[in-house]
Amino acid sequence: MAKSRTAKKGKRSSATRARSARSARSTSSRGSSGSRTAKSRGNGRGRDDAIALLKADHREVEKWFGEFESARSHERKSELAERICQALRTHTTIEEEIFYPAFLEATDDTEIHHEAEIEHAGAKHLIDEIESAGPDDDHFEARISVLQEMIRHHVKEEEQRGGMFSEAQSSSMDLRALGEELKQRKLELMGESASGLGEMAAHARSRRGARELRARSS
Ligand SMILES: [Fe+2]
Ligand SMILES: [Fe+2]
Repeated sequence: MAKSRTAKKGKRSSATRARSARSARSTSSRGSSGSRTAKSRGNGRGRDDAIALLKADHREVEKWFGEFESARSHERKSELAERICQALRTHTTIEEEIFYPAFLEATDDTEIHHEAEIEHAGAKHLIDEIESAGPDDDHFEARISVLQEMIRHHVKEEEQRGGMFSEAQSSSMDLRALGEELKQRKLELMGESASGLGEMAAHARSRRGARELRARSS
């Protein structure tokens, strides 16, 4: 397993070198028509760039997973799980809508791109299950724990040396402009989810209330 991964990385690094040369050529020939690519050297890296924003999201969710592990009350675990699922939905959406297509356009790295998409699909499937089964389900904590593992692996793949983020940083992507796009879309999605969360909380309260009533009357 480790051996084939190493071989893959070796293959990837020579492909990356070839791509960098191609990308440098295409940037100079694309000129002002390049949609999400930087027009000058340095590709807009900085404190507010796309990578900084996405990494900040990763740290926030990791913190909540840690708090979930040490939380004692069911109420607190349930609140944290809701927050984690919502944040991951927003994060995966902005990556898939904005960052991943820009990455693919600039690097042509289908291997890293497609792997990341498949990992997102797996995580989103589990999030659907967590949200539909609710915090009173027998498998609630097991699902959160598996989700944490999946996210840990995915974040490592994105942030490691030779991973998506470092490849993006050495590509022609305009990371500052992308950071701005990601920020705007995230705000929009958070606005939409705030009303959705209100509905979910009301729904959970009514289900719990109905169960309590049934238990009292039996
Ligand atoms: Fe990410
Ligand atoms: Fe991702």
